[in-house]
Amino acid sequence: MGHRVNTGIGFVFVLTTFLLLWRWEQLSLNEGSRCLSQEKCAPGASQYVILLSYARSGSSLTGGIIAEHPDVFMYFEPLHNLAKMFGPQQDEYEKMTNRHLYLTRIATYNQLASPVIEKLLTCDYRNLSRMFSMSRSAYDFASTKELYNCVNISKTPEEETECLRLGQERCRQKPVRLIKTIRLSVDQAGIFLNSHPCAKLIFLIKDPRGSHQSKTKLFEVFGYSAANIQRFCWRLDTDLSAATKLREQYPDRVYITRFEDLAMKPLLASKRIYDFIGLEFTEKVSKFVYDKTHAKKDTSGYFNSRVNAYQASYRWRKAITLEAVRAYDNFCQKSFSELGYLPVRSTRELRNLSVPLLSGGAAVS
Ligand SMILES: *[C@@H]1O[C@H](CO)[C@@H](O)[C@H](O)[C@H]1NC(C)=O
Ligand SMILES: *[C@@H]1O[C@H](CO)[C@@H](O)[C@H](O)[C@H]1NC(C)=O
Ligand SMILES: *[C@@H]1O[C@H](CO)[C@@H](O)[C@H](O)[C@H]1NC(C)=O
Repeated sequence: MGHRVNTGIGFVFVLTTFLLLWRWEQLSLNEGSRCLSQEKCAPGASQYVILLSYARSGSSLTGGIIAEHPDVFMYFEPLHNLAKMFGPQQDEYEKMTNRHLYLTRIATYNQLASPVIEKLLTCDYRNLSRMFSMSRSAYDFASTKELYNCVNISKTPEEETECLRLGQERCRQKPVRLIKTIRLSVDQAGIFLNSHPCAKLIFLIKDPRGSHQSKTKLFEVFGYSAANIQRFCWRLDTDLSAATKLREQYPDRVYITRFEDLAMKPLLASKRIYDFIGLEFTEKVSKFVYDKTHAKKDTSGYFNSRVNAYQASYRWRKAITLEAVRAYDNFCQKSFSELGYLPVRSTRELRNLSVPLLSGGAAVS
């Protein structure tokens, strides 16, 4: 079984590489790669949206808001199981160097992830490995739950093939396909945008100082050396500069946004995301956004409801150490200044929620 899966992935990988190279060659023959951006998305064609973010950055909520539209088919964290396969390699690296190894820095991982993104967004489920049809997070969302269950109870390869065919059909019924992932680099998403004129990227960032505190609380084990913060900032700088370049190339296909804007003005920020994708912001969606961000009671877990989303988005300021904040302010300086995350000068300023940490941001009242 494992062998078959590997050969399958290897084959798909070789094939994809071949196709990419072939395509690249074709484009190079056509007066350089400039012609890429001139390829237009045909009206009525299916749309592909990659929502790319980091852990604990509000991407589940954001993905959920987009998926609330009936035209959207969402695949939630399809790379979860693939990522787990690299766990031992990451642990080993961490043991040896005391530094975290991000998946997106592992070439083999990127090579395996890329064709999966392609297959899922284009609703090509033929021979889709169980690693992806049975992603644990896929089970949590309506679009993909049926596929998960069907494959889970299938007893023969024929039954499984039938499940994949049905899943593929479901996917094709929806004009907008969305992948929400924290396990991809912007560069990888860029490869997809280059070859699909109807593909869009939403790069969602939350103040990393807040994500830090959230991860510390949730996972406890996350190592917070300055070296790891430096690593994170390197990843952010790389992704942000790649996203900025990509946006210059495809102004209406790349959207860089901060979670704090969504938390501060949920309806306005959600509507902007809908406008970017080209979806109608309906009354029903509007109510969904309102309920998620103005709940009667906070819920915890991956898909939170908040009494006051903006207040909640700054709860971390009460708990994080000034030392950790300073490490971020120092190593992430370049990205922070581009994104408008303001540095903190003292513990007093950190704990005083009347002092905004976001340019254009309101004090938390
Ligand atoms: C799916 O796998 C079967 C058996 O390994 C193979 O014959 C077929 O060509 C594959 N189809 C695609 C689309 O990859
Ligand atoms: C998958 O199927 C098994 C039985 O074949 C069942 O026990 C299990 O709960 C199923 N998994 C999920 C997530 O439904
Ligand atoms: C908190 O910050 C506000 C705005 O800068 C300031 O007016 C207020 O005095 C500060 N409160 C404390 C306790 O430092």
